[in-house]
Amino acid sequence: MRVTVSRKAHFNAAHRLYRKDWSDEQNEVIFGKCNNPNYHGHNYEIIASVTGEINKDTGYVIDVKFLKNIIKEEVEEAFDHKNLNLDVKEFKILNPTAENIVVVIYNKIKEKLDPKLDLEVTLYETPRNFVTYSGK
Ligand code: NI
Repeated sequence: MRVTVSRKAHFNAAHRLYRKDWSDEQNEVIFGKCNNPNYHGHNYEIIASVTGEINKDTGYVIDVKFLKNIIKEEVEEAFDHKNLNLDVKEFKILNPTAENIVVVIYNKIKEKLDPKLDLEVTLYETPRNFVTYSGK
């Protein structure tokens, strides 16, 4: 029996979407308000979903405390109240779009999980805009 266990978490962060190698006009056309030079913030929500077989001894797919701690260390402590462009090494050269953020989060969590477990991460940038990545 494969079951999915999910944990929600939250962080606030600032970002700016732009490419240094593009002109101001081109950045404005592609990124619009998200290109604001003085940055802007989002209340990000994440849902990390882990799928695997139920362990016969424990009855767990994953101990949710373990998942909670991975998210706390790898996502909340790394990103909360940070400027993603300036403070987070993964985004020094990578544009912090929702798409790129969800891939970074997925990779950080996946590395800490038993390789037998599947992971899917959904990241909400606003209540209506969200992206999902499952490593494919
Ligand atoms: Ni934005």
